[in-house]
Amino acid sequence: MDAHYDPREVRVTKNKEDLGLHKDSQKAAARVGLTSDEIIINGGRPLNGRIEVRGAKNLATKAMVASLLGHTPSTLRNVPNISDVRVVAGLLALHGVLITRGAEEGEWRLDPSNVETAHKADIDAHAGSSRIPILFCGPLLHRLGEAFIPDLGGCRIGDRPIDFHLDALRNFGAVIEKLPSGISLTAPNGLKGANIELPYPSVGATEQVLLTAVLAEGQTELRNAAIEPEIVDLICILQKMGAIISMEPNRVIFIEGVKELRGYDHAAIFDRNEAASWAAAALATKGDIFVGGVEQEEMMTFLNVFRKVGGDFDVRPDGIRFWHPGGMLKPVTIETDVHPGFMTDWQQPLVVALTQADGVSTIHETVYENRFGFTDALNKMGADIKVYKDGLHDDTRRVMRREFEQAAVITGPTDLSGADVEVPDLRGGFSHLIAALTAEGQSKVTNIGIISRGYENFIEKLRLLGADFIYEG
Ligand code: EPZ
Repeated sequence: MDAHYDPREVRVTKNKEDLGLHKDSQKAAARVGLTSDEIIINGGRPLNGRIEVRGAKNLATKAMVASLLGHTPSTLRNVPNISDVRVVAGLLALHGVLITRGAEEGEWRLDPSNVETAHKADIDAHAGSSRIPILFCGPLLHRLGEAFIPDLGGCRIGDRPIDFHLDALRNFGAVIEKLPSGISLTAPNGLKGANIELPYPSVGATEQVLLTAVLAEGQTELRNAAIEPEIVDLICILQKMGAIISMEPNRVIFIEGVKELRGYDHAAIFDRNEAASWAAAALATKGDIFVGGVEQEEMMTFLNVFRKVGGDFDVRPDGIRFWHPGGMLKPVTIETDVHPGFMTDWQQPLVVALTQADGVSTIHETVYENRFGFTDALNKMGADIKVYKDGLHDDTRRVMRREFEQAAVITGPTDLSGADVEVPDLRGGFSHLIAALTAEGQSKVTNIGIISRGYENFIEKLRLLGADFIYEG
């Protein structure tokens, strides 16, 4: 019998099961007066062992929203136990989706048969909790003819506008009203297929178009689309539901609207960001980590960089082993980019390893305008990282960006020493953990609840990998 999902779980983002807790650390933590949002790490030890990575945060949450489009229940498998998933589940439950946990670990059943309009005040309560609510627009307009979307949350790594989303929705015929606490949408003449060209291959805007076009009347041609593996996985889900979507050359996606979609049964693609984060941790701590559930194809660009920095890896049927083979790490120059380039989410954990490389590395962040805030904490620990607000003037830039550019220059090797640091955002936060694990001495990392947004049971995984830490449970 499925255990009924309690939406109240949504609000408990720092609950015990998030972080994988053990009794023994709780007593030690009580002695040092730690809160549940901080951890003390005794660094300087290699991380060795095996951990498993489950479904991608940046697919599973979208797949859950897609279930609204079906007239029968959907089953999503390999769902990670992270708070971003619970936030979306809570929003879906508010709209009448019946959510139950299946028999398998990570199996969720979503039944949208009784979708109704949620009370605005209840939705408001989710304001600022995630960026995913913006993707409810198309599905709710199709189901209810209206939608209210609260102000968005997500990592503070730039201004993160939603103009591409709103322009696309208007193209489909949506009428959008901006409210003090969010946006209200209607579709007085229904939603019709459109020709849309994105100014930039935005992941979220591409998902917005996909989730709206599949039930729109007529055809939609999307140009300059994002083509990340998570986007392809979402297209696979929509195709299972009965959608007609073709990926053409040169970032063109063609969607033929259909009248009805049914539920899907799908196992989410693995989380590339979590995999790369643990790989970077192996490099920085001179360790050896087998990351189960990871596929080579979606990691190729990362694997090339991992090898160029001096790491080694072994691809096996059930995952990839990442290790530091000894000797000095080597500096690299990287420009973050849209897929299949080097992902912007991969640079934060890797920067910690680059502080140990023998030479000068450069990371050119071209996707977000404020994604090096985390380097302050690394410099506090002894790293030598300089951030250039106007970026490095590189005429060979492949990805034209708007007014901002950003570059970090990391000079190594530097000895890192333990320090008290506060987690600024999800990926930057994980890089703080890696830095504390790499540094000699003791560090106290606070505000770690943010990390449970995207890293399932990360405290338990640190324990499995032999990390020396004290945490209150
Ligand atoms: C998704 O964010 C991911 N988040 C991000 O991961 C990831 O870094 C990003 O894609 C790029 O791969 C989720 O999927 C929940 P974008 P998204 O739209 O969709 C600008 C993590 O750590 N833009 O591709 O918000 C935007 O400001 C997170 O898991 C507009 O200007 O990313 C950014 O500079 C961090 N107007 C660039 O485009 C818009 O309407 C790329 O954004 C939309 C985006």
